[in-house]
Amino acid sequence: MNESSLKKHLSKINNIELRYFDSIGSTNDEALAWAATGANDLSIVIADEQTQGRGRLNRRWFTPKGSALAFSLILRPTAAQRPHLSQTVGLAALSIAESFSRNGLSPQIKWPNDILLHGKKSVGILVESVWSGEDIDSLVIGMGINVYKDSVPPADMLQFPATSLEEMLGQKTPKREEILLNVLDSFMHWREHLGTNELILAWEERLAFRGKQVEVKAGNESPISGVVDGLESDGSLRLKDLHDNSVIVRFGDVSLRPVA
Ligand code: BTN
Repeated sequence: MNESSLKKHLSKINNIELRYFDSIGSTNDEALAWAATGANDLSIVIADEQTQGRGRLNRRWFTPKGSALAFSLILRPTAAQRPHLSQTVGLAALSIAESFSRNGLSPQIKWPNDILLHGKKSVGILVESVWSGEDIDSLVIGMGINVYKDSVPPADMLQFPATSLEEMLGQKTPKREEILLNVLDSFMHWREHLGTNELILAWEERLAFRGKQVEVKAGNESPISGVVDGLESDGSLRLKDLHDNSVIVRFGDVSLRPVA
């Protein structure tokens, strides 16, 4: 992957501006700074290596050179999209999952924003916002896709079992430029459906652990347990408790685990 091959692939999509780095701290940091100084909608920051890659819950994100697809997409929401921004993480997860399916894989979305292949994490998504007063000015969607085996962190760094596309597809692993183009293609499609039931249903169809007992933790609060039932219209997770009552888990710094 290099700047010219990326630009060549992305020339198939109109109006995409790209900043490419052989090595960077975090593509999300660069994208947040670019967004704050007026980047256009659908601008992308992408790097071959991140030295300070950031994950959710203040975790580090491992991106060694030549191993992963690490990029950040800047969105400038329209007035019509603004009420539905809570679905952005699902939109991103669904786009990546759909692109994986085109390669013959069966990805599942671990709510809110990880993608699992055979029960192991292969993608992480970190959505951050740039505010203008009380309004969201722009969103940065950071996506880290484990493409080659070297992108999988050592076991002692892992919170959850992880895998890569290469472990699943071997020689058939697509080039990172092709994966990016495929993800963006799905993203443009599903973005038109932001706020619709169609997007929620497509996201829900790919939800991991449906019908299974899970535990959701938010910060230091006691974990919430229940069986995964589905999604609410804003993308919140619906569990069923022991008495078959619905328990709604809203977005935030939450982590979900299956109960053995
Ligand atoms: C997570 O699962 O904790 C989210 C990981 C998000 C990683 C991506 S890689 C590209 C972008 N730049 C970052 O520093 N983080 C995101």
